[in-house]
Amino acid sequence: MKNYASASEITVGVVGYGGAFNMGRQHLRQMQSAGMTPIAVAEVDPARLAVAAEDFPGIETYSTVEEMLEKSGVNLIVLITPHNTHAPLAIQCLKAGRHVVCEKPLAITTAEVDAMIAAANESDVMVSAYHNRHWDGRILQAVELIKNQKVIGDVVRIECHMGGYGKPGDWWRTSRTISGGILYDWGVHLLEYSLQLIEAPMTEVMGVQHLGFWAPKTAWKEDSNEDEGFVLVRFEGGQWLTLSISSIDSKGKEGWLEITGTEGTLVLDERYSTLYQNKDGKFITSRIPNPSDEGQRYYDNVRDYLVNGSELIITGEWARRPIHILDLARQSSEANRAIATIYP
Ligand SMILES: NC(=O)c1ccc[n+]([C@@H]2O[C@H](COP(=O)([O-])OP(=O)(O)OC[C@H]3O[C@@H](n4cnc5c(N)ncnc54)[C@H](O)[C@@H]3O)[C@@H](O)[C@H]2O)c1
Repeated sequence: MKNYASASEITVGVVGYGGAFNMGRQHLRQMQSAGMTPIAVAEVDPARLAVAAEDFPGIETYSTVEEMLEKSGVNLIVLITPHNTHAPLAIQCLKAGRHVVCEKPLAITTAEVDAMIAAANESDVMVSAYHNRHWDGRILQAVELIKNQKVIGDVVRIECHMGGYGKPGDWWRTSRTISGGILYDWGVHLLEYSLQLIEAPMTEVMGVQHLGFWAPKTAWKEDSNEDEGFVLVRFEGGQWLTLSISSIDSKGKEGWLEITGTEGTLVLDERYSTLYQNKDGKFITSRIPNPSDEGQRYYDNVRDYLVNGSELIITGEWARRPIHILDLARQSSEANRAIATIYP
């Protein structure tokens, strides 16, 4: 793959300039901060395209990806669209010889990710997923405490959970076909956090789900997300990882991630982490504020990869791991048995 002489030679465009979280603006600004040159936006909604033109005066605007690929010299395209569009749009852009960054989740199934990686290899371009949360303060701190300082001994299990009680909204995130299911939005982030802490290969996935309580009450009816999903992943070293996301959980759980080791437990919450240790027969609890997030490092790394050939941190293969877990969890819940992983 050819390297660029400088970051500014990387001309970038986004597909999708949605309003829910203003992610299009965030991506273009972060790429700009990394020294790249924003030149184009493709958006099917004319109102959002107008917002993009206001945010970035003079930027090329297109109403379809086809038009962008045909008319724009953009060489890195970022997909910020609903989950079930990621694989087809990425493959279209990769086949046109453009580098692709895809918002998380990289895709819904393992087969889709395999096809994306194959398309990138064929065109000799990059495919990556925007795992900006790889650099969240809480996980940067957890990696330091657990892997470098060994404050909880050897990691034995990680439990990830999120959710509460409430009818899901009528937006696309509630459609199982479009979103992939209840586990795909925040679940991908929590799995990506966890996979940084357990380095052993994954061996087996078991999934269960509950469907049908909220479904009749939402706009998506039987295509609604599960009320609750649960996954158990086993690793070659004997560790295990669970993820549960619920919309029927009347009793919240402490934190987002609970990591238990042979000598302590670290719980990661939104603003702080809590370390539970047993020292000389005494239980000690320490609350540690989470440092700031450093999501800009995602695009700084992409730039360093494309300009200097530095190692790409979020490769397609890395981003495939959480998707593989969720894909197998769906298959497992349908087959009523655990399923062996294809990828470690
Ligand atoms: N990494 C993060 O922290 C983070 C935060 C929020 C959202 N996301 C991810 O970003 C993606 C988009 O989420 P969102 O909240 O911005 O959704 P959104 O619905 O607000 O925006 C999506 C936009 O894409 C446009 N669009 C859809 N199909 C298109 C197509 N074929 N061509 C051009 N435009 C198209 C829509 O008109 C819409 O404006 C999802 O993958 C989501 O999981 C990630």
